[in-house]
Amino acid sequence: MSPTYGEYLKIEELLKLQTGIDGDESKLSNDELHFIIVHQNFELWFKLIISELRCTRDILDTDYVEETKIPQAVHHMGRVIETFRLMALQWKVVETLEPQDFLNFREKLGTASGFESFQMRKMEALMGEIWVDGKPVSGKAWESFKEKKSLYEVICEWLHRTPIQGSTLGSSSDGETVSNFVESFLEKHKSLYPDHNAEAREFLKPEDKVHRGRSGLLFIESYRELPLLAWPRKLISTLIELEEVMVLWRSSHARMVERVIGRRVGTGGSSGVDYLDMTAKYRVFVDLWSVRSILIKKSALPELQNPEFYGFKGD
Ligand code: HEM
Repeated sequence: MSPTYGEYLKIEELLKLQTGIDGDESKLSNDELHFIIVHQNFELWFKLIISELRCTRDILDTDYVEETKIPQAVHHMGRVIETFRLMALQWKVVETLEPQDFLNFREKLGTASGFESFQMRKMEALMGEIWVDGKPVSGKAWESFKEKKSLYEVICEWLHRTPIQGSTLGSSSDGETVSNFVESFLEKHKSLYPDHNAEAREFLKPEDKVHRGRSGLLFIESYRELPLLAWPRKLISTLIELEEVMVLWRSSHARMVERVIGRRVGTGGSSGVDYLDMTAKYRVFVDLWSVRSILIKKSALPELQNPEFYGFKGD
């Protein structure tokens, strides 16, 4: 027999969950009911995001990612991005809480804080290690939420296997081909940006050893019009977009908090707005951001070798 709308969605059960700490909804003010509903809403979205991030990670967590799988990964990421965009707007609803009215029930929270959201930490752990100003900051809490692999780890492994100038990882002349590509790129880069060439070299050849993953990333970003590279490039820009919306979400949370509690300390014990503003500096997909600083114009790129490998037939 067909379930009703309420049976299928468990609406009755869901609507019983807004009782507050006393377990009695009739004792809640309108403001506190609003506060609880908004938080529960966010946590539901977090649940969806975690499941989508896991799907994306699992699709890419293999020794060989079939071309047809990349659009699927992009599709899952697209849903995460739109959810974050929506969540960033959701702070506007929270802002309808007047600073003075929040004080009517803020004490009831005790030390409870979004800080303790385990789903938030799970999302972060699924995305990857967090860096600020070139240093990892994730720490022990992050480790404890970490699953087999993070999305960024599988992305780095996938980038490591990028065919560069038609050369595949493990082929006999691969080391030489990749090294030649990197050196000729760096030479062109030097002629255009002599003052910044050291950074480009450090990125592509840390400790004077070619970094194949970063070279693959550079290759995809540089020759992105090649048919075989179009979806990989789309996946990379989707990851950048995800991180961008997440940063915007973090900073709009901070702006909302500044409006509602000013410079008060948080219930979780942090400095409040200053702490939240610092979290807007977090970056996970660090190489994907860094490569943007070393790109050069298309007309200056090293000549493409083996274009047919990338499905490019020429004019
Ligand atoms: C009036 C509403 C809110 C205020 C004043 C507020 C304030 C704060 C403050 C001050 C912090 C820093 C940690 C601390 O010391 O407590 C924090 C962290 C956090 N809040 Fe809120 N918040 C509000 C609403 C929300 C909502 C609706 C969510 C949605 C789930 C949320 C999620 C988070 C998360 C995930 C963190 C941890 C951030 C991190 O460590 O990266 N907050 N909040």
